[in-house]
Amino acid sequence: MPPTLPPKNIVEADFKANPFPFLAQLRASEPVYRTVLPDKTPVWLLTRYDDVTDLLRDARFTKNRRAGLTPDQLRKLHWTPPMFRPLESNMLDQDPPDHTRLRALVHKAFTPGLVEGMRARVQSLADELLDHVAPQGKMDLIRDFALPLPMTIITEILGVPTSDRHKFHRWSQAVVSLTSPKPTLRVIPSVWLFLRYLRRFFETRRRSPQDDLVSALIKAEEAGEKLNEDELLAMVFILLIAGHETTVNLIGNGVLALLENPDQMEELRANPRIIKSAVEELLRYTAPVLMTTERHARENVTIHGLTIPQGEITLGVIGSANRDESVFDKPDELDLTREPNKHLGFGQGIHFCLGAPLARMEAQIAINTLLSRMVDLQLSVASDSLRWRPSLFLRGVEALPIKFRTQAS
Ligand code: HEM
Repeated sequence: MPPTLPPKNIVEADFKANPFPFLAQLRASEPVYRTVLPDKTPVWLLTRYDDVTDLLRDARFTKNRRAGLTPDQLRKLHWTPPMFRPLESNMLDQDPPDHTRLRALVHKAFTPGLVEGMRARVQSLADELLDHVAPQGKMDLIRDFALPLPMTIITEILGVPTSDRHKFHRWSQAVVSLTSPKPTLRVIPSVWLFLRYLRRFFETRRRSPQDDLVSALIKAEEAGEKLNEDELLAMVFILLIAGHETTVNLIGNGVLALLENPDQMEELRANPRIIKSAVEELLRYTAPVLMTTERHARENVTIHGLTIPQGEITLGVIGSANRDESVFDKPDELDLTREPNKHLGFGQGIHFCLGAPLARMEAQIAINTLLSRMVDLQLSVASDSLRWRPSLFLRGVEALPIKFRTQAS
């Protein structure tokens, strides 16, 4: 069947603002859809729930872009500046057995039990951040709350100086604003500074280890076999970025969705115990991670009669799978008590989000604390004037100006 829908720029801000009607069209008529990124890289989008879950468990697709390609394709593979090479060793870009080994090294630090032990710290941080803005009656929810919360926590877990968090965010912003897997010249200075910072920081931890994750990883690296130097660098790099660039969108998009659905906001305010199902629903409905990261076909793969050629990139559109009408009742409605809710917000299979317990806990505390302390929450600008961050995988606003009254005032 020839394609009927024209190529779509899936990374631009306008698409991110409301991708859902277009994605519904794809699910209905072109569930395997080929488009091109702004740099002309072809990508295939899978938009139905079952196809996305299959993709995430299908061994015919590889995460390691150097695996499974023909020698000719490897030769044509876009050139990566040597500086970026160590970063290819991050767990999300690896298949087993390397993926299994790398994930096992940090898995323990992010189990629900350990994360639960951080609850009091996350709560006190949420209160502290709101104390700062409460007297003003207004804030940029992203800058003042949704961003510093996960950023501070992930730096504390890793042991990197929290006071440098603005630098990390500046550098990581450049990385997540990439609109193609091919790095552009624009991003090189940020990555260079980021890696230089981390290498210098590792030296200080080598000299005097502390009780933090970076010190534990350095110990594993020095013991040999478990982790090499590139992998150490890639590990800390991905944890710092994934540990805050995603959760900021869950809290930001989540609060925006509540502002747009005041009956739901009031239901949660009246009954904070529904926060667990509420956060699951906000993950489903607001798509803080809109697409999976890329998978490469190791062979020609035919889905619904269309053949994805070997080596090409396929993305599972999480934000579409989560609105698939064959799985979710009234998928375009926000229902904070939705049950069951088998959304794919954290992915599936072996790459299922390592930080899911932490992200859930942070969002639950952030949203309930905001609602318990602030009333008459309102957007300070028209919602159609909000600017969405251009990005290949993520979906979130740059700023979310809101005003409020505090409970006591
Ligand atoms: C709301 C917040 C978050 C969302 C929606 C989210 C979503 C995801 C998704 C969809 C994947 C799978 C990607 C794929 O298969 O292509 C993933 C993987 C991952 N996430 Fe998260 N994430 C969040 C927070 C976090 C946090 C706080 C951390 C910090 C530890 C984290 C660390 C990771 C890592 C390391 C992986 C790769 C896992 C692997 O390859 O085995 N994420 N995340």
